[in-house]
Amino acid sequence: MAPLMHFFTTLLFLLIPLEATTNYQHGLKSLHFALYQHETINKTGFIVVPGVAGPPVSQTTTPFGTLFVFQDPLTLKSNPTSKLAGTAEGTSITSGLDGLQSLSIAKVTLNVKKHKGSISLVGVTNNIKPSNHPVVGGTGDFLFVQGYVTSSPVNLVGLTVTYKIEFHLYWPPYASPKL
Ligand SMILES: *[C@@H]1O[C@H](CO)[C@@H](O)[C@H](O)[C@H]1NC(C)=O
Repeated sequence: MAPLMHFFTTLLFLLIPLEATTNYQHGLKSLHFALYQHETINKTGFIVVPGVAGPPVSQTTTPFGTLFVFQDPLTLKSNPTSKLAGTAEGTSITSGLDGLQSLSIAKVTLNVKKHKGSISLVGVTNNIKPSNHPVVGGTGDFLFVQGYVTSSPVNLVGLTVTYKIEFHLYWPPYASPKL
């Protein structure tokens, strides 16, 4: 009897959190999509304060302390002439002594999948590796949104560099427009 009781108790404890998770996900709205960010040096992105140490300015590095400001188009496909779906405006400060990493702050204005508004991001970008940036909030149809974006280099050669930005957005239950 005792082992059987134990079995049922274990089953009960296994089922309760499972059901809670399932219910929670039912009320949760999410959106997953990818866009391409194109950054052209001295056209959509500028070094406004030079850095102080480390590697020189190259396609993938900037000296430690470099302050960079950008307003880049986001398109549906990797081709820069493909349909515009938003813009990413923000700043990054080279925070890695190797010149490869920078602290980035961005407001991403979006018009995608019948959703208009913006999301705000903060995180550290690695110039040559994929990086995750937490979503810290949003406006418009993205009000209260949570989640993260993954930024991965696609093309780092030439005057225009391209990054793939994968959005993983989740609306908490209290973000419902009925409220
Ligand atoms: C961008 O502008 C800066 C400042 O005028 C200049 O030093 C740099 O060579 C330019 N870079 C490119 C790739 O044109």
